[in-house]
Amino acid sequence: MMRRMNGFSRASDGHAVLGGVDLQNLVAAANFPLPAYIYDLDGIGEEAAALVAAAGDKHVVAYAIKANSAGSIVRRIAEQGAGADLVSGGELLVALGCGIPPSKIFMSGVAKSDDELDAAISHGIRAIQAESVEELSRVAARARALKKPARISLRINPSVEIDSHAHVATGHDDAKFGVAIADVARAWETVDGSDGALLGVGVSTHVGSMLEEPSPYLESSHKVCDVAAARVKAGHALEFVDFGGGFGIDYGDGPVSRPGEFATAAIGLLAEYGLDDLGVVFEPGRALVGPYGVLVANVIQSKVSGSRRWLMVDAGMNDLLRPALYEAKHRIEPLAAAPAAEAWRVVGPVCESADDFGSHAIGAQPPDRVAIRDVGAYGFAMASEYNGRALATEVFLSGGKVVRVSTTPGRDAWVRGRLEA
Ligand code: LLP
Repeated sequence: MMRRMNGFSRASDGHAVLGGVDLQNLVAAANFPLPAYIYDLDGIGEEAAALVAAAGDKHVVAYAIKANSAGSIVRRIAEQGAGADLVSGGELLVALGCGIPPSKIFMSGVAKSDDELDAAISHGIRAIQAESVEELSRVAARARALKKPARISLRINPSVEIDSHAHVATGHDDAKFGVAIADVARAWETVDGSDGALLGVGVSTHVGSMLEEPSPYLESSHKVCDVAAARVKAGHALEFVDFGGGFGIDYGDGPVSRPGEFATAAIGLLAEYGLDDLGVVFEPGRALVGPYGVLVANVIQSKVSGSRRWLMVDAGMNDLLRPALYEAKHRIEPLAAAPAAEAWRVVGPVCESADDFGSHAIGAQPPDRVAIRDVGAYGFAMASEYNGRALATEVFLSGGKVVRVSTTPGRDAWVRGRLEA
């Protein structure tokens, strides 16, 4: 019996291991199709439990479900006492279906539909995070129609620049997200003038993703505290401040601050502002799941063309969009042996030059299979059926064994759907 160990590692014979399971042996014996996302539920559970413990009972870790909405994962995170941050009616149903209580559910998003607002109000979630003065008026109208007050939090745009890819920065002046500080007074007037249709219970932000250390997080958290303290000083009770998510992970470039460090530093701000009575909400997505997923793909063939050595695998940008969309680099390694110096340019089958996972030290000979690492977050979640390709298999590990395999309807269903379109 192999030693149990969370995350990705190598066994003594060189085989890739995830969550204590030898992936080479698993895939060789498996009756599930590749490419397959394989997840370490125990690692995810421990990561969530550690952050919930660092935050403490009074505060809420609201998992950003968009990172990975698989029921097995959401349930495992919920079991540690976490809530959910979500951005659609679909994600709301996943959160409720996984047993997350409405009191720990927060709905973000710049353009929530009336149906989504109605569902959020009817279920009595903790707060709809309002992103504009205009949206506040729409929420108030829906609350009146439903004859039920809507609990809202004001999501502010803190006007903070972060050192991350432009596509994942959300807290600068040119971002579509949040209420500009200059509009906060108008926003509260809308709340206060709503005749009780809107209950202002919090102030929120989310400055962006892949923060490597707490300083930009603290900068935006200060802005949230400024707005919250002014609101309290004006005689209005608040329940919480929500500092958002964005905690980074190590994609191979070296360690980054741990989620608990962000949480402890941010909670420390409350006293400075005399806001000790308030709860704090965190919205981590990537940090809870990213390191605990790998995408295993077959090597279809190699191609040596002049000085270039290509390795064609059966996972493409439809399965993992991050390299094409953000120039993200994910470590890619042979499944059956530790990587060796000789580099190959790993590409997928999709007919786009962007379907390119970059150069990786693999070894002299093309391997049969590779593991693409750190894909637990924003991997399957962003997948598509582009090029008529079925969605990947998902395999869930716990206690050193497979506990669930999930396959999508697959290629035949795709063909039927297109013929009927
Ligand atoms: N809260 C809100 C309001 C968000 O918009 C997000 C992510 C999060 C929390 C969670 O952020 P995290 O802790 O995961 O960084 N697809 C991109 C990331 C987009 C993030 C969008 N919003 C990627 O693959 O890097």
